[in-house]
Amino acid sequence: MSEIAEEMRLRPDRGEVATYIPELARADRRAFGIAVIGADGQLAAAGDSETPFSVQSITKVFTLTLALGKIGDRLWKRVGREPSGNPFNSIVQLELEKGVPRNPFINAGAIAVTDAILSGHEPREALGEILRFLQFLAEDSSIAIDEAVAASEKRTGFRNVALANFMKSYGVLDNPVDYTLGVYFHHCAVAMSCRQLAMAGRYLAHSGRNPTTGLLVISPERARRINAIMLTCGHYDGSGDFAYRVGLPGKSGVGGGILAVAPGKASIAVWSPGLDAAGNSHLGRISLEMLTKRMGWSIF
Ligand code: DON
Repeated sequence: MSEIAEEMRLRPDRGEVATYIPELARADRRAFGIAVIGADGQLAAAGDSETPFSVQSITKVFTLTLALGKIGDRLWKRVGREPSGNPFNSIVQLELEKGVPRNPFINAGAIAVTDAILSGHEPREALGEILRFLQFLAEDSSIAIDEAVAASEKRTGFRNVALANFMKSYGVLDNPVDYTLGVYFHHCAVAMSCRQLAMAGRYLAHSGRNPTTGLLVISPERARRINAIMLTCGHYDGSGDFAYRVGLPGKSGVGGGILAVAPGKASIAVWSPGLDAAGNSHLGRISLEMLTKRMGWSIF
């Protein structure tokens, strides 16, 4: 692990930090962290693995889990399960497909999923539920929302406002648009370290079960299905390339984090704030490619 972290520390190609959410532009391009938690619960970590960063779209995996727990397969009436082949914030398909987003990981899809979690509750309650779920999964009550990031995105998230209003006009969202977006902006602004994220992802690597306590978080079938969507849609229009190079289900965020799942073997989180053209962590992907090659963890 430390070999990979050292190699990443020295690489000159680091991608570009996201600036469209102004607060994210403050991230340190030199940062790199990696944390791997195996089936025996052992942690292997290196670099900035304890530094909290903005997890952004990675929370979409956990909100999808919660929404499926709440309304089950009815969720698939308001969001699809196909890769979009478009950038994460694209609006073009929405009109052609009657306001139903392609999948739960593009912004439109994640907003629809957030709306399902909200289902008539106060935004504060829905947000509390999401945060408590993350704290429960990671066994860490210190996980919190970075209010500065949430406010920054709320101020500048015009495209998400457009996506939400567009879906609302097709009847895909039930709640007031500003409620749904308020919850969405705040859950994207959760800050977690690589270690906390790898802890939170364990249930996906172990058929829905916390491998240490043996407790079932979700059914094995649901875990398998969420992994399938991570593999096909977790990196937006870069999902094919991620599957080709890394060979694991993974979910990226514009904060530079990636959560990857080696089924039956490990939950892995990497973080490096510089992004590639598709908005996915550049060194995050490269480090995962190195790790899976060395460990023989590709699912293919
Ligand atoms: O809605 C947005 O644009 C951000 N809160 C999340 C986008 C994101 O993380 C895309 N991932 N690579």
